[in-house]
Amino acid sequence: MTKDLIDAIESRRSVRSYKSDPIPDPTIGRILECGRLAPSAGNLEPWFFYVVKNSQIKDQLAAVSEPWIKAAPVVIVVTADYTLESQNFGERGREMYLYQDSAAATQNMLLAAHGYGLGSCWVGKFDEIKIKQILNLPEGQQPVALLPLGYPTEENQPPLAHKSIDEMVKIIH
Ligand SMILES: Cc1cc2nc3c(=O)[nH]c(=O)nc-3n(C[C@H](O)[C@H](O)[C@H](O)COP(=O)(O)O)c2cc1C
Repeated sequence: MTKDLIDAIESRRSVRSYKSDPIPDPTIGRILECGRLAPSAGNLEPWFFYVVKNSQIKDQLAAVSEPWIKAAPVVIVVTADYTLESQNFGERGREMYLYQDSAAATQNMLLAAHGYGLGSCWVGKFDEIKIKQILNLPEGQQPVALLPLGYPTEENQPPLAHKSIDEMVKIIH
């Protein structure tokens, strides 16, 4: 049983500590499907998802990003094809759609993971060149996010303080 979408959005928190329990492949598959179905400019779907289960590769990824991701049974590395974006949308594709598209796919997977009771955290702090080397990424593919996935060691993180809605909304009548 997965969470209702609104509940998933409202209750999701970043999780940075994971149990070693394996994640069933069908669950990983459904999470990837949710990434696959994200919207993208011109439906280019510039993303690619590397599903890293290998401990040595995870250790290497952790060494060039956040050390705690090594405890996650799975790390999804989201990459995006900037050549495809440049060819179709020029600078706007390369500088903006690339990140918007891959962010939409990443957020879909974050929410799907939470819906399945998994913890995750969007990791943007990494050495891009080293990630390319570790995964032997083809020319034109850029890593954009790391998503460690694992069952959380703690349940129900408290809500985080957020800016009020008035600070971010302007209604134009
Ligand atoms: C683009 C992006 C990059 C992030 N990079 C990191 C990161 O490198 N390390 C980390 O611990 N958290 C990272 N986060 C998670 C944020 O710190 C977290 O989402 C924020 O503090 C709000 O907390 P919440 O996710 O629990 O609501 C990142 C989030 C985003 C959206």
